[in-house]
Amino acid sequence: MKLAQQTILITGASSGIGAELARQLADRGCRLLLTARRGALLDELIAGLPGGSQRHCAFSCDLSCPEEVESLCRTILGEHAQLDGMILNAGVGGGFNAAAIDVAGLRYQFEVNFWGAVGFIARLSPLLLERRKGFIAVTSSLAGYRGLPAAAAYSASKAALTRFIESMRIDCRRSGVHFAVISPGFVRTPMTERGEGLRPFMIDVPRAAAIIIRGLERRRYEIRFPWLMVLLVRFGLILPEGLYMKLLAGRRKPQPTPGAGS
Ligand SMILES: NC(=O)c1ccc[n+]([C@@H]2O[C@H](COP(=O)([O-])OP(=O)(O)OC[C@H]3O[C@@H](n4cnc5c(N)ncnc54)[C@H](OP(=O)(O)O)[C@@H]3O)[C@@H](O)[C@H]2O)c1
Repeated sequence: MKLAQQTILITGASSGIGAELARQLADRGCRLLLTARRGALLDELIAGLPGGSQRHCAFSCDLSCPEEVESLCRTILGEHAQLDGMILNAGVGGGFNAAAIDVAGLRYQFEVNFWGAVGFIARLSPLLLERRKGFIAVTSSLAGYRGLPAAAAYSASKAALTRFIESMRIDCRRSGVHFAVISPGFVRTPMTERGEGLRPFMIDVPRAAAIIIRGLERRRYEIRFPWLMVLLVRFGLILPEGLYMKLLAGRRKPQPTPGAGS
């Protein structure tokens, strides 16, 4: 699948992986619909892309607000119906304190990481399914494969997203629409700069974006990286429960779950 010249929606494009995907896809001649809350950053990004604001569009939208997602989808269906694919990449990371569960914070992570992607898929996938082509990719995480210390909210929201796409893909297997789950390990972005703790095998964002684009062009379903981290996660999947607990218990201190201000 060649991505050159395609019209692609990217959520979470104001920084990190999303912004770099925008740069690399614009260099391939794609036309981009970029969204995030910080519209000024999107405008700045677009001004530096080939084709600038003549070619690309920025939409300020808070994914934790279903009405804003609904309204943006209506705009896309009305004015940008030539959409070829979407990379639903926006997400919030952060900690978790099992001794004092912040339900509102947990709900917020699900609103952005899970419902924020599902809202776009529900409204925009019929367009692609009807045309029998295009792609739907979500940025999940290797953190969604098994429970991790002080990460219950994040890990659960990404696991939910991964399973949602896995199931959708089965239902749409002969639709002509490609589904992909992007599962990064650690990538050097504002998200990892905010947190604390070990970041094994961390890679730079240009490399992460290049791997994602290559994976999409090869129509990969699972785009997981970096490979050493993937290996570690695979190892974790085959470990007996008791040993997994022993190895991970206490590896990260309880931290507050990020809320709406994040
Ligand atoms: N970096 C890593 O190591 C890593 C590892 C695994 C998975 N991931 C995933 O990769 C994706 C991109 O993360 P990143 O590392 O590039 O972090 P980042 O630089 O913090 O980017 C997060 C993006 O999500 C957007 N976002 C956050 N909350 C939002 C909201 N309520 N409404 C709309 N947009 C919102 C942010 O834009 P605004 O703040 O402008 O709204 C920003 O553009 C996330 O889904 C993350 O979970 C990252």
